[in-house]
Amino acid sequence: MQTGELIALILTLTIAVVTGEPGFLLHTRRIQDNPQQIEPEVEALVRSSFYAADPVVLSIPRWQGNSSSPEIPAVASARLQQQDSNVISVDLSEANNETEIVDSVANLVILLNKNFDVPLDRIVIVGFAEGAHLAGGVAAQVQRELGQQIPHLTVLDPSSGEELEHKLSKSDAEFVEVVHTNAEGAGTWKQLGHVDYYPNGGQTQPGCSTDSCSHERSFQLLAEMWSPENDFVSALCGSVETLGASSCRWSSHKMGQKEEEQPASGIYFLETTQSSPFARGAYYISFL
Ligand SMILES: *[C@@H]1O[C@H](CO)[C@@H](O)[C@H](O)[C@H]1NC(C)=O
Ligand SMILES: *[C@@H]1O[C@H](CO)[C@@H](O)[C@H](O)[C@H]1NC(C)=O
Repeated sequence: MQTGELIALILTLTIAVVTGEPGFLLHTRRIQDNPQQIEPEVEALVRSSFYAADPVVLSIPRWQGNSSSPEIPAVASARLQQQDSNVISVDLSEANNETEIVDSVANLVILLNKNFDVPLDRIVIVGFAEGAHLAGGVAAQVQRELGQQIPHLTVLDPSSGEELEHKLSKSDAEFVEVVHTNAEGAGTWKQLGHVDYYPNGGQTQPGCSTDSCSHERSFQLLAEMWSPENDFVSALCGSVETLGASSCRWSSHKMGQKEEEQPASGIYFLETTQSSPFARGAYYISFL
């Protein structure tokens, strides 16, 4: 091979890697130890372990997150502990074009809706860090294409989103819930959803001495948020400047709780312990 050809080949390979499409990984209870790589097209999904009668959780990791990024198994296990579901994780290790990522994930949602009759209210999108804004972008794109809003987005310690074109906002879905665990570090103070939770004040988490520990605590809380034993009793606060056990109004609402009606919009404070189980229940209610 001539040098010129070699260089051309190397360039082609490099571009192929850098502009790669996101990958999709399916986790279900049956294949929990062995998630399955799936192609976002009808034939391949029919042949896979995807089961259209079960609800779908779409899990979007941090920027360039891959199947070993800890949020991926954490979200899958939090959900599969509770119910039979298709948890589809997005692998961004080879994808770095925001528009293409959002298109590709939105197209999967649209395909599930149109070809497998999965109603949008059986699809929850979860995003961690930059994945929070990507989740917002996907939901907004689905709405543009289907004329229908995604009912529920759960986002975990969103990044500031400065580096991204689409920034998460509450207009992206009917209900956007946000958990802030490392504001000022990898996360943000900014209120982005209908409800924004700030566990332990939202900046650093108990037992954590690094930003990444506090940042990653956000998805470790998910298993309890989704559990029927959820005991993350929360208090409604006036602003992020007044987050605290005594300055906020305790409510019966629990972080992440599924309710018939949406909880009051706003900013919530709660305290957690430093290891699982994280919930502290009504401790402060009886104390005050
Ligand atoms: C996968 O992502 C994690 C961080 O989330 C990183 O530490 C690791 O190097 C990545 N692995 C590959 C093969 O890209
Ligand atoms: C990302 O992809 C879109 C659509 O394929 C393209 O128009 C755009 O130029 C790409 N952006 C970058 C930064 O490569």
